[in-house]
Amino acid sequence: MITAFLFIFVFMKHLIAPSILAADFANLQRDIEMINQSEADWFHLDVMDGTFVPNISFGMPVISAINKHAKKTLDVHLMIVNPDKFIKTFKKNGADILTVHYEACPHLHRTIQAIKTEGMQAGVSLNPHTPIAVLEDVIRDIDVVLIMSVNPGFGGQSFIENTYKKVIQLKDMIEKSGSKALIEIDGGVNLETGAKLLAAGADVLVAGSFVFKSKNPINTIKELKDL
Ligand code: DX5
Ligand code: ZN
Repeated sequence: MITAFLFIFVFMKHLIAPSILAADFANLQRDIEMINQSEADWFHLDVMDGTFVPNISFGMPVISAINKHAKKTLDVHLMIVNPDKFIKTFKKNGADILTVHYEACPHLHRTIQAIKTEGMQAGVSLNPHTPIAVLEDVIRDIDVVLIMSVNPGFGGQSFIENTYKKVIQLKDMIEKSGSKALIEIDGGVNLETGAKLLAAGADVLVAGSFVFKSKNPINTIKELKDL
């Protein structure tokens, strides 16, 4: 019994979170059904406000529409200033995990608690220039750390190699602190970068273009899952 438990614990499979940003918005329901049927674990939803990042994506009406059809966890990545203002609304529209940017939250501890009070899992994202060390005093309060491996704002950018080092540092911080946070990576993920990220200690791989621009997205998700 104990051996079986340890086996499951040690060999917990990594998770795959396709990013809807790269989906065909004119055929969104078709793409949502594809993810429902695939081996993907989460829907990754990128919310951009044109202020925190130099791009605007989608907001509440689209998230609520996705929520009506999605049969998996909604992982909402907020690239917006003042995320505190909208925490309750994101919960109402179906978010299961709500991730805010460290760089957008002057009172990060309060923001994390507010997300958890609403019954969601709390994620914190770090831009490529932000060191892991800034999470030292909140790491035990966080469910997910989302390391940006590109500068946030756009899909289809190339992977920043310094990310591997950050994953190793974060894994070490998580283990030493007794935190249960998952390590999620976002930007430029493909089979090659994905394999190296998993070896460095990543738990969740976000993939946008690599999935949706491929000939057979269901199969591409399976290939990422089988890494
Ligand atoms: C970028 C977004 C990502 C994006 C990833 O700001 O946070 O989730 O969709 O896209 P790819 O996988 O194409 O780099
Ligand atoms: Zn994202």
